[in-house]
Amino acid sequence: MPALPPIIAPSILSADFSRLGEELAIVDPERDWIHCDVMDHQFVPNLTFGPLVVAGARKLTRALVDVHLMIERPWLLVEEFRKSGADLITVHLEACRETREVLRQIRATGAKAGIAIKPGTPYAAAAPYLPDLDLFLVMTVEPGFGGQAFRGEMLEKVSAARDERARKKLDFVIEVDGGIAEDTAREARAAGADVFVAGHAVFRTPDPVAALSGLRAAVSV
Ligand code: DX5
Ligand code: ZN
Repeated sequence: MPALPPIIAPSILSADFSRLGEELAIVDPERDWIHCDVMDHQFVPNLTFGPLVVAGARKLTRALVDVHLMIERPWLLVEEFRKSGADLITVHLEACRETREVLRQIRATGAKAGIAIKPGTPYAAAAPYLPDLDLFLVMTVEPGFGGQAFRGEMLEKVSAARDERARKKLDFVIEVDGGIAEDTAREARAAGADVFVAGHAVFRTPDPVAALSGLRAAVSV
């Protein structure tokens, strides 16, 4: 993936699903993505939505659809999510047995491929796969729920990936997810992040439009 200007990816998990169209209307397809949190109540202790909701969101925006799979055996559903309109499919390293095979499978559908790691998973476990992926997602909360507190110590993984990317001339982008707001987004940007997932800091505010432009400004300095 070419070097990107900073990107905000509002997470629809925190949106009001009874009026998803209105909620997604605030997203600017030229500079934002939308983030779709898929949870199966197995890999994480929560159950959210599947390909049908992703397909609905796809119809509501031209923005890049970034699908974050927090599910067991994600390789069984890669094609389904691609068909539902996912542009980028991220699986958790902790849920994969043959990681390179899953990345190859995602790319074979025409989608971009990402790997996510939980807070308890060290950077070194993901480093061997950096040459084979388009996006590296560093969780800054324990996956499973929106509205949790940001874990700043995870930014060491972001900086390590940024430095390895420069050293080896790789071209993946670095995404952070969990507890992102203006102040934590600024910190993560300084550590080397490119994409900033934000749920509560966008959709659970009195003025989501102002909140989104505040986040864009925070990472554009
Ligand atoms: C958590 C999800 C996140 C979450 C972010 O497991 O992967 O994307 O929705 O929500 P906030 O920004 O509210 O922490
Ligand atoms: Zn997510």
